[in-house]
Amino acid sequence: MTMAQKLFSEDNILLETRKVNKFFGSGKKRVHAVRDVDFKIHRAEIISIVGESGSGKTTLAKILLGLLKASSGDVLYNGALRSLKGQKARRAYWQNIQAIFQDPFSTFNQFFRVEKILNDCLDLQGLGRIPIGDKREKMRDACQFVNLKYEELYNKYPFELSGGQMQRLMIARIFMMQPNVLIADEPTSMIDACSRSTILDMLLKLRAEKDMTILFITHDLGLAYYVSDTLFIMENGEMVESGNATEIILNPNHRYTKQLVSDVPKLNEEWDVDAI
Ligand SMILES: Nc1ncnc2c1ncn2[C@@H]1O[C@H](COP(=O)(O)OP(=O)(O)O)[C@@H](O)[C@H]1O
Ligand SMILES: [Mg+2]
Repeated sequence: MTMAQKLFSEDNILLETRKVNKFFGSGKKRVHAVRDVDFKIHRAEIISIVGESGSGKTTLAKILLGLLKASSGDVLYNGALRSLKGQKARRAYWQNIQAIFQDPFSTFNQFFRVEKILNDCLDLQGLGRIPIGDKREKMRDACQFVNLKYEELYNKYPFELSGGQMQRLMIARIFMMQPNVLIADEPTSMIDACSRSTILDMLLKLRAEKDMTILFITHDLGLAYYVSDTLFIMENGEMVESGNATEIILNPNHRYTKQLVSDVPKLNEEWDVDAI
């Protein structure tokens, strides 16, 4: 048994959906955004959901996060049906699962300084009453993890930061919250290629250091392949193919996957498959 097979066995499933559907609107305008989606993500696994714009990726992510209600189907966390009834249950769930979204500007309250944004993470973890010196040290550590200087930033407002700094601040927050699952919905689409690879490396480092499970959402198959153990290909709300990332790239079965693979120039040659 290889390492990957051992790690990603049935008894290691962390998050699962069963026949999840989502409809928006009604009558002729009804959109079937998510269709009978069954998927599983294991502890410490990195998966990517890949599909073009409008294929239902963000809708599925919001259902997983409990920000949108599915029209039908179940979400299981840690082997049990997820309950979001009552604020206590929701808070507990959101300690386990956190997200970073495409648009970093929408993530932060624009009227809070960086210090408060980070400090709120400590409050959420029940660390609101530890000594101020310890708090600063935790905030400094988190900034250091993403190569930001706390001393330079703590007094600033989000709009005073660059896009790249804001992306890093989002990851610093994740570093502090230490959720079991991180959903990253196109987190690098707003930034240049250089900071993009830094962000990806930080996410991979988070998994390595915190054993975090990461669900990555992207329309970029090359990127998904680079970061993921497992790929899920989504088209028109449906998961049309899934499996080991390398196997899918080398041997795509579904028409849509074949098209995606052929759209990425020289994907097979550019990446040294054996080295990954
Ligand atoms: N709040 C909403 N109201 C109505 N339609 C929506 C809403 N959110 C998403 N949709 C529709 O659902 C489909 C899937 O959207 P989305 O999940 O955002 O796709 P993706 O993230 O893959 O680009 C699209 O047709 C989109 O227009
Ligand atoms: Mg989206």
